[in-house]
Amino acid sequence: MSSGSRPVSAAPPAKRSTVTLSKLAEKKALGEPIVMITAYDYPSAQVAEAAGVDVVLVGDSGAMTVLGYPSTVPVTIDEMLMLCSAVRRGLTTPLLVGDLPFASYEASNEQAIRTAQRFVKEAGCDAVKLERGGSSAERARAIVAAGIPVMGHVGLTPQTATALGGYRSQGRTAERALDVARDALALQEAGCFSIVFEAVPSEFTEAVHSQLDIPIIGIGAGPAADGQVLVFHDLLGIYDGHAARFVKRYADIRGAMIAGVSKFADEVRARKYPEPEHGYTMAPDEAAALADKLANLHVREPFSGEW
Ligand code: KIV
Repeated sequence: MSSGSRPVSAAPPAKRSTVTLSKLAEKKALGEPIVMITAYDYPSAQVAEAAGVDVVLVGDSGAMTVLGYPSTVPVTIDEMLMLCSAVRRGLTTPLLVGDLPFASYEASNEQAIRTAQRFVKEAGCDAVKLERGGSSAERARAIVAAGIPVMGHVGLTPQTATALGGYRSQGRTAERALDVARDALALQEAGCFSIVFEAVPSEFTEAVHSQLDIPIIGIGAGPAADGQVLVFHDLLGIYDGHAARFVKRYADIRGAMIAGVSKFADEVRARKYPEPEHGYTMAPDEAAALADKLANLHVREPFSGEW
């Protein structure tokens, strides 16, 4: 992917969300849980808006949930910008965070800034998210210095799951937990406004909570986090793949969609749909006139097969 490719939207939305970074900090200070969900298109953004969530993340999980890739790794910047732009059009209130995809920010601070700028300029994101500590903390610092708010992400970081030994919980020994804590502190020090903790022991989140001033958004990180996030397709039961331990399904939308489409198919095949109320009508005299005109219509010669 190049930064020189065409912007995904000709006219970037001028919208800004009404939930601000200070609002999130205030929620943490007041002990009010922060609600974050992912969204990937206009209807899911509208649902997030109507449900009154605080933060919407256009996660690179969209690579799997809506684009059908086997992992988050293959999704490109342009694909993410397309998803973010659609979500932006459906959102007014929640803070909109765009997930920087794998290989779009790791190489250098310049690359990280350039990519983050595209998420803000072309797709109207309020902030971006990146994964891991280590060199990612430096990238976060550079993006923040360029004026773009950054959310960190530690623990299970799916973009580098292979290096972590697969999609498994992280920080389960004191030594490994200390590594995750160091990453989180480095991201805070770099200026991140919030950090996602993914698949870490609840005890770890509780222990680290007092050391972090910025809100922790947990996904499989226990109740001590300042907020919780779930993937839209997981929580609504739209996605048919493997569900992680931390997923709680609040609906069976996939089941409802299959039932709806199957009923439509059955009714079309049984000639039950459409019914009179689904069609348009013609006044009887117009219908009679049409029948007359059709009877006198010159029928063309059948097509000979030659132009
Ligand atoms: O991509 C994503 O959906 C995420 C959330 C799980 C935090 O990173």
